[in-house]
Amino acid sequence: MTTTNILDFATQLARETGQQILADRQTNLTTSFKDGEEMVTSADINADRLITSCIKESYPEHNVLSEEGAPDLNLLQRSNEPLWIVDPIDGTVNFAHGHSQSAVSLAYVDNSQISCGVVYNPFTDELFSAEKGNGAFLNGEPIEVARETELSKAIIATGFPYDKFEMEPLIRRVGNILQNCADIRRLGSAALDICWLAMGRLDGYYESLSVWDFAAAQLIAKEAGAQYGHFSPVPEGVDPQFYARDILIANPVLYPKLLKVLQEAEK
Ligand code: IPD
Ligand code: CA
Ligand code: CA
Repeated sequence: MTTTNILDFATQLARETGQQILADRQTNLTTSFKDGEEMVTSADINADRLITSCIKESYPEHNVLSEEGAPDLNLLQRSNEPLWIVDPIDGTVNFAHGHSQSAVSLAYVDNSQISCGVVYNPFTDELFSAEKGNGAFLNGEPIEVARETELSKAIIATGFPYDKFEMEPLIRRVGNILQNCADIRRLGSAALDICWLAMGRLDGYYESLSVWDFAAAQLIAKEAGAQYGHFSPVPEGVDPQFYARDILIANPVLYPKLLKVLQEAEK
């Protein structure tokens, strides 16, 4: 099976799910909180069901790791088997508050490599996509990262966890970034933050996430020329592609500069 077939399938599925998400916001949304703090809506659950059932119908032998229906991280240990990593709605809080920064995120892992990624914002009709080795695209047009080289002119995006433990390191990092860079954004969808970086609307991005938040966008950013890594050590034996803690993404000139700023906040 070629990844182009997979990309076409993922593109169509992301668009179809996007239409359902738009329709769901017009109806009676129900909202609850996972672990008492992380918001989930009926639209997240519906979108997860649609995505999972379509994948299972077209590719019954593929595994699905999805935030709402099957958040089973053990599937990453079997990434040599075909695997989808799904965030049905990235930016749920935005979605539930009537903002437009939310997206469907679908990544396909083949032979232990993220080989295809699609991130679709149905509110702006922007579809970001990439296949490994074939570049990155926004609505079919090639995209690349911004060429900004000076920290003092760079706009950096980040996000904050739902749980409010360990605030001090977060605040120290924000302080260091604000002191060294032009400004900071907290847009509320990690997948879109990273895609915005991939197409040059943002210059840098850092955050600790879950794998479904960034699997697709990571490939899109790399294919657009970004450097992807971590500002703390990746534990031995863990595949950096899937390591969700302390992620840093920027163009290759800004990357080492941001790394230094973030690492100085750890001291
Ligand atoms: C969240 C968003 C947010 C990030 C959070 C994620 P969700 O995903 O990506 O930007 O800061 O860490 O959990 O919950 O809306 O799918
Ligand atoms: Ca998410
Ligand atoms: Ca989500």
